[in-house]
Amino acid sequence: MPATNGAPGSRRDTHFGFRTVGIDDKQTLVDEVFDKVAPRYDLMNDLMSGGLHRVWKDILVTAVNPPRSERPFAVLDVAGGTGDVAFRIAEAAGAGTRVTVCDINREMLDVGRERAAQRGLDASVRFTAGNAESLPFPDRSFDACTIAFGIRNVPRIDVALAEFYRVLRHGGRFLCLEFSTVDVPGLDVLYDFYSFNVIPALGRTIAGDAEAYRYLVESIRRFPRPKAFADMITAAGFRRVSFRMLTGGVVALHSGWRL
Ligand SMILES: C[S@@+](CC[C@H](N)C(=O)[O-])C[C@H]1O[C@@H](n2cnc3c(N)ncnc32)[C@H](O)[C@@H]1O
Repeated sequence: MPATNGAPGSRRDTHFGFRTVGIDDKQTLVDEVFDKVAPRYDLMNDLMSGGLHRVWKDILVTAVNPPRSERPFAVLDVAGGTGDVAFRIAEAAGAGTRVTVCDINREMLDVGRERAAQRGLDASVRFTAGNAESLPFPDRSFDACTIAFGIRNVPRIDVALAEFYRVLRHGGRFLCLEFSTVDVPGLDVLYDFYSFNVIPALGRTIAGDAEAYRYLVESIRRFPRPKAFADMITAAGFRRVSFRMLTGGVVALHSGWRL
């Protein structure tokens, strides 16, 4: 498991995919990956997952359960990139819901802003640059906090989880969608073949970059198993922590409440 518990500025090592790197170097490497993939990110998501990422995100939105009314409801989507989850929440919600996308990568946010304008969602979805490890928002300012396929990129996961807890109001819910561990015999072999051969080849052909996509696959294998991640969420202070596996364990949806 990666060493994710180093305090900011510590000299601990962590993993960038299968490489061991200094914990303070990981973010720069991650940022380089998303600088490269931003223009083709959404197309690649559809191609790599065969459209399944849409189903997983819709399950996340159902769990967020935003009010359909004008009741004010504030959602923070951390590592929200090009806005996909935020748009789905805003489209499912009533007029009182506001979604804030926070992401460290300006290229991803620029694509997101453009997409929001095209969809007429610029009033309900706003984009803010920021690091999950030090969120630029006051304490207790959101009713729900989501992160989809983002947490495994963050160098200090425990620091980020503490931040998610800090910005949630009492009674607020944290939801995390992340690639997980395929434990179904047969499916695991197929999944490995697909991940290590097909995805980098797609990355090379469509996005002109196999390495960036190799990192994305390797980082999935390095991420803590679902029970271990649930324990980290509990350690951050969340209560009633649970998770459910989707598509044979390809993805896990974790949930915790600030109570
Ligand atoms: C795989 S993308 C997921 C984007 C979006 N949530 C989705 O599901 O389509 C991962 C995102 O995490 C962002 N990210 C990486 N490290 C971050 C950090 N420390 N703080 C905030 N965002 C970060 C990247 O810039 C990238 O946009």
